[in-house]
Amino acid sequence: MPCFRAMTEQDLSTVMEIETAAYTHSWSEGNFRDCLLAGYEMVICDMEQQIIGYGVMSMAAGEAHLLNLCVHPRKEGRGHGRRLLSHLMQIADQKNVSTVYLEVRASNARACALYHKAGFNEIGFRTGYYPSGSGREDAVVFARSNFS
Ligand SMILES: CC(C)(COP(=O)(O)OP(=O)(O)OC[C@H]1O[C@@H](n2cnc3c(N)ncnc32)[C@H](O)[C@@H]1OP(=O)(O)O)[C@@H](O)C(=O)NCCC(=O)NCCS
Repeated sequence: MPCFRAMTEQDLSTVMEIETAAYTHSWSEGNFRDCLLAGYEMVICDMEQQIIGYGVMSMAAGEAHLLNLCVHPRKEGRGHGRRLLSHLMQIADQKNVSTVYLEVRASNARACALYHKAGFNEIGFRTGYYPSGSGREDAVVFARSNFS
């Protein structure tokens, strides 16, 4: 079974390998460093001492924003994304967060299905929020409240 721990600077080279493999428009290493410096919740999912996924969440004033959730492309479809998300929701709950927000590409059916199943509701759209191969792509905004 996977286990969870806090991300550190030493994880960043492996995290970047996964990030660039998983996303067409990935975060830079600088984005992860900024989040570490800002003290965001950054969780690594390890299995047999290998990093298989990670999540990044900011929290302030009783609200959280899930900024990144990623599973290694070779490890998808085995429940790791669901477990990682559930772990992040437990952290938010322990810190008395009342609502968790996130944005996802409208075309990302896998992630949308994951968030729906985890009790998130679609609360809006941001038109042209993401860069895409053919110009811009809309974001779907999800929120989940009362998740304890
Ligand atoms: C989105 C992501 C985190 C899901 O991780 P995962 O480990 O594959 O997900 P799980 O195996 O836990 O599956 C969770 C749910 O996702 C949905 N799902 C999984 N594979 C799917 C597929 N091929 N098509 C559609 N839905 C799928 C199902 O609802 C599944 O629930 P179920 O197993 O009860 O049916 C992973 O695909 C990923 O890292 N993608 C690239 C990065 C990304 O897009 N992150 C989200 C940005 S907001």
